[in-house]
Amino acid sequence: MTTFQNLMLDVSGAAAPAPAPWRPIKITRAEIDAEIDRLSAAPAPANGRRASRIVHPSAVAPGLGFAPGVSVTIEVLDPGERTAPMRENAHRVEIGIRGSGRISVQGRDVREIDLARLDVANIPAMQGFVFRNTGDEVWARLSYSNAPLLEKLTAHYAEDLPEGWEPRRRTAGPRSTEAPAAYTRGTAPDHAIGTDGARLRGYEFLVDIEVVESLALHWPWEEVRRHLSRTAGDGGRTIMALYNPATRRRQGATHNFFVTASYLPPGSGQRPRGRGHKHTSVAINYHFAGHGESEVDGETLTWEEGDLLLSAPSWLEHAHYQGAEGLGAFTVQDHPLHIGMESLVWQEEMDGPVLTLGSEDGQTGYVGPREAGS
Ligand SMILES: [Fe+2]
Repeated sequence: MTTFQNLMLDVSGAAAPAPAPWRPIKITRAEIDAEIDRLSAAPAPANGRRASRIVHPSAVAPGLGFAPGVSVTIEVLDPGERTAPMRENAHRVEIGIRGSGRISVQGRDVREIDLARLDVANIPAMQGFVFRNTGDEVWARLSYSNAPLLEKLTAHYAEDLPEGWEPRRRTAGPRSTEAPAAYTRGTAPDHAIGTDGARLRGYEFLVDIEVVESLALHWPWEEVRRHLSRTAGDGGRTIMALYNPATRRRQGATHNFFVTASYLPPGSGQRPRGRGHKHTSVAINYHFAGHGESEVDGETLTWEEGDLLLSAPSWLEHAHYQGAEGLGAFTVQDHPLHIGMESLVWQEEMDGPVLTLGSEDGQTGYVGPREAGS
């Protein structure tokens, strides 16, 4: 029986909590390929969504994922197939890893994205979408989502859209005629409280929120790679962020995730071995070129083309070292989420300061994957 007393947990004098990170883990190219082949060969499910979510051994339901709060799902469509339309309040980053296809998304207008291998796209929350395999081979993607976080919050909302639903061009509708137009944030009371910036505002501010348009965006690899170093020593950037302006200062490809493309051409210099760095955001690396190894909290993980790694669990020291063939990788981190929560804590030098990025002066000097500023 629930009593008032057994709802109380006495934490008087408790020690400061410490992060309890999951261990790093690698899913190999062979394992991903085998799962793509298995999904492709299985009977098509009724909703057309052939998919396997990769679940870390430390994951606990609700919210099974590859990292706490982040899922990576292998999604497959055979030639000619399409998924049933749906929308959800999770958002996605899609990376093409085999074949090609089309993503149709209902935003303000219809967005049609033809996703080739190593192209990246985002799907904003609550915009209907359909995937179609428009090619003649199996289409496989890595689909990153914040669904596990929403599941932990018991707040993952999703709905199937009617059969035959297609995104269509919208016409601007009138504002609701139910509520008097007077009750908007523009006319609501808004009073200064004291002199330090505190305010007292009408409830309209909570429910008539400034809209920031959120679009499905496409970063074709053919275009992205032109802005990255081409040959060793050419001075080109070796890491760049795929930026979605809807995320503003949080620098994401979605409101949860940053995505970076790293490319170090063959023959690029190799990093001297040393200490790593750590941060509260988790990093997931998909390696598409080269090979090398990561030192993560005293554990060495080797990697090569096609491997997917939880390469930086929250607050575990890590450093990455590529071989002579260079490196190509997409990194996804839940960095924008942490900026929004003021929880992006970063320690660049193991004997250096612990910084809260976004709330105080940040880390300067980076232009490559920890080649400078480290
Ligand atoms: Fe890192």
